[in-house]
Amino acid sequence: MANNAKFTTRLGVIAATVGSAVGLGNIWRFPYEAGMHGGGAFLLIYVLFVLLIGVPVVAGEFVIGRYTGENVVGAFKKLKAAPLWHSVAYIGLLSSLLILGFYSVVAGWTLEYIYQAATGFGGAASQEALHAQFDSFTTSGGRQIFWTLLFLAINFFVISRGVQKGIERMSNILMPMLFAILFVFCVNSLFMPGATEGLAFLFHPDFSKIDVSTVLGAMGQAFFSLSVGMGVLMTYASYFSRSTRLISTSVTTAVLDTLVAVMAGVLIFPAVFSFGEAPAAGPRLVFEILPAIFATLPAGSLWAMLFFILLFVAALTSTISLSEVVIAWFVGEWRWSRGKATIVYGIAVALLSSLSSLSFGPLAGFSIFGMNFFDLLDFVSSNIMLPLGGLLIALYTGWKLPRRILRAQLSAPGRDPDAPSPLAVRLIIFSLRFICPLAILAIFLWGLLPH
Ligand code: PHE
Repeated sequence: MANNAKFTTRLGVIAATVGSAVGLGNIWRFPYEAGMHGGGAFLLIYVLFVLLIGVPVVAGEFVIGRYTGENVVGAFKKLKAAPLWHSVAYIGLLSSLLILGFYSVVAGWTLEYIYQAATGFGGAASQEALHAQFDSFTTSGGRQIFWTLLFLAINFFVISRGVQKGIERMSNILMPMLFAILFVFCVNSLFMPGATEGLAFLFHPDFSKIDVSTVLGAMGQAFFSLSVGMGVLMTYASYFSRSTRLISTSVTTAVLDTLVAVMAGVLIFPAVFSFGEAPAAGPRLVFEILPAIFATLPAGSLWAMLFFILLFVAALTSTISLSEVVIAWFVGEWRWSRGKATIVYGIAVALLSSLSSLSFGPLAGFSIFGMNFFDLLDFVSSNIMLPLGGLLIALYTGWKLPRRILRAQLSAPGRDPDAPSPLAVRLIIFSLRFICPLAILAIFLWGLLPH
């Protein structure tokens, strides 16, 4: 079923796409990954991936989504693509489940921290006290499950209300606010005692730190942060109108998304060095550092509350997009009502994320390939499934999709598709055909070699 719902304004298109891209990936995951993989070197490779691979694959997803006007599975059916390409859709649907399985746990942490901010962090202000607080919260099974499920209830409530009303209205107001508040805190961080060390860590690449895990991690982070490689953007593009410019929307999204991640780094790392935290502290990094920053400010609890509320909303606009891939599929292919699709998928996600929320406590001893369940969901989806989806999308759009369609979708509306294409269009097509597939394949092969 072609989807008739359309985003109403150009701002709506950008806000929803950026709303999907900007989320915990930028503010929680980017600093923690950069911290684990050596800072500057990671940032540099990450930015290269965003530009060389991220932007073209985003544009490729947009092309398929808008051209077909369909959900992920419907799109490849309508294109009469060979079975291999349909796997893009199924990789995407599975990725949605796996990502939601750990993402909603961290989104639940934002709710806990809103609550903690409101109650003054139980008086904890020192690094040790905040560390202990994080531990006692994340090892407590019940409390984490409660916040995770509350978050999911909010997410699926918004989802059940439909595309435009739910998504567009919220992200139009709150994303700019997040941007503004991040900026204020960045400036604050520049005055901390550890500022020089923190900025050097983030911006000065130490090339000796580059190994396969840095490169794989940076590629995964680029895909994850741009929400690309799994059909989220394809689904959103099916709601775009013919007048949306796909390349400029991809570039704008990538620039804003990267800016937010870099701002999060500028906010976090000076504080990390000021408070004597290890940059490689992992998923807990941001949740310990942020409250420590707020504790140094006048009216710190209020700032903390505001910040975690905005972080929660940023997470929500991302989980809405993650959920929408699957919901659009149920509605489009299975002819389910939106309500039924919401309930069924909501229950599936709730079960998986409850399980992963126990990874830090009761299930901490359970590990596969040296990772707990939470880390495993994250690693498999971000570092393997999204790049794999991206590889297939690049190959399909670059080599299989008729060139006329690709050019016409990428060019401004009304342009003669037989006229020579502008440089931007040619660059995107070149990357889809050569750079993306070769780079992704090379990194996968490198990862498979014995180390
Ligand atoms: N890009 C989102 C973030 O950075 C996460 C996400 C990944 C959303 C994949 C949709 C698809 O938080």
